[in-house]
Amino acid sequence: MILVTGGAGFIGSNFVLDWLRGSSEAVLNVDKLTYAGNLGTLESLSDNARHVFVRADICERAAMEALLVEHKPRAILHFAAESHVDRSIHGPTDFVQTNVVGTFTLLETARAYWNTLPAAQKSAFRFLHVSTDEVFGSLSADDPPFSETTAYAPNSPYSATKAGSDHLVRAYHHTYGLPVLTTNCSNNYGPYQFPEKLIPLMIANALAGKPLPVYGDGNNVRDWLYVGDHCAAIRRVLADGKPGETYNIGGWNEKKNLDVVNALCDLLDTLRPKGQGLYREQITYVKDRLGHDRRYAIDARKIERELGWKPAETFETGLARTVRWYLHNQAWVDEVASGEYQKWVEDNYAVRV
Ligand code: NAD
Ligand code: DAU
Repeated sequence: MILVTGGAGFIGSNFVLDWLRGSSEAVLNVDKLTYAGNLGTLESLSDNARHVFVRADICERAAMEALLVEHKPRAILHFAAESHVDRSIHGPTDFVQTNVVGTFTLLETARAYWNTLPAAQKSAFRFLHVSTDEVFGSLSADDPPFSETTAYAPNSPYSATKAGSDHLVRAYHHTYGLPVLTTNCSNNYGPYQFPEKLIPLMIANALAGKPLPVYGDGNNVRDWLYVGDHCAAIRRVLADGKPGETYNIGGWNEKKNLDVVNALCDLLDTLRPKGQGLYREQITYVKDRLGHDRRYAIDARKIERELGWKPAETFETGLARTVRWYLHNQAWVDEVASGEYQKWVEDNYAVRV
């Protein structure tokens, strides 16, 4: 089997669902179920014997050791993290703990386990670390996109902790020979994304008749990748990536935030028209994110060339699929957005007026 950490979160759950649809191999899904993890997302797997869910914290060494010894995975795919930049600005402690200490703990237990494997299994073992393009810092309008050799320059507590975890992963390969793979991906969007992030937040606020809070001037640029394409890329890297290498993953979809929000409004005007007026009228400019990175862009030619991966969705097709999914799954949004999330909305947006 394979071990997935963070498989109840946005990308991890999409990966687990896709994996079990396309492969006969079982998944051990290890997730702490923080505010961002949701078992409702995995409901369709409740009768699937190939999905084993364990609630555990990757920082707990004894628990991780016991899981590896019991289940003997051939690979670890490490998605678990604190992932929201704004939360890292409000309170970085959990980010250092999970992203740095948690990744370190997982590497240590993986190394100990890997050292016990017979030669053939040892050389086939993989530790795939899922990281972000944010470790490379911020680009200006004319800079070339991030490549695998771009120097690290993380700017937020979130990206600094992801950079720290990337360095540890690299060191475990260089020092101990652990067969690691690292992927650095751009902004994902699609089903089951927690509504704190730009696209699901804007859809939810639009439908609720609330303001659509665009930070700063709305001209910050992100590259957008449909989550199913990211999952396909990770499967390719796991299958044929070269241990010790890093792979940038992106959608060739650089967009200004304001253009993303306008595109969402236009889709909603078609799919769920308001009685009166247009969704764009709800757009409100609010105080900017501290240290807000201006632009991210990904040069994904290495994974295309070496592993033959290319995104299947365009931004237009992916966004339309995503909006339709949220329109049909409002119960999921209501469920995850109850409780603690309301306090977060107050903390993050009350100070922005
Ligand atoms: P997410 O916040 O939606 O999910 C994270 C999951 O990890 C949750 O299920 C949570 O319960 C779990 N988790 C958190 N701390 C844990 C711990 N200590 N032990 C065990 N489980 C824990 O995140 P996501 O958006 O799905 O991101 C997944 C990974 O991909 C992260 O490593 C993130 O840095 C990376 N990434 C995300 C994006 C994006 O656009 N969302 C882009 C590039 C890379
Ligand atoms: O680039 C990859 C990264 O993408 C991942 O590593 C992170 O885990 C993921 O959260 C995402 O980070 P961003 O900060 O780019 O995503 P977010 O959805 O929070 O914001 C996208 C852009 O939209 C960013 O420029 C800030 C802006 N924004 C965001 C929110 C929540 C707004 O203008 N208004 C908002 O309310």
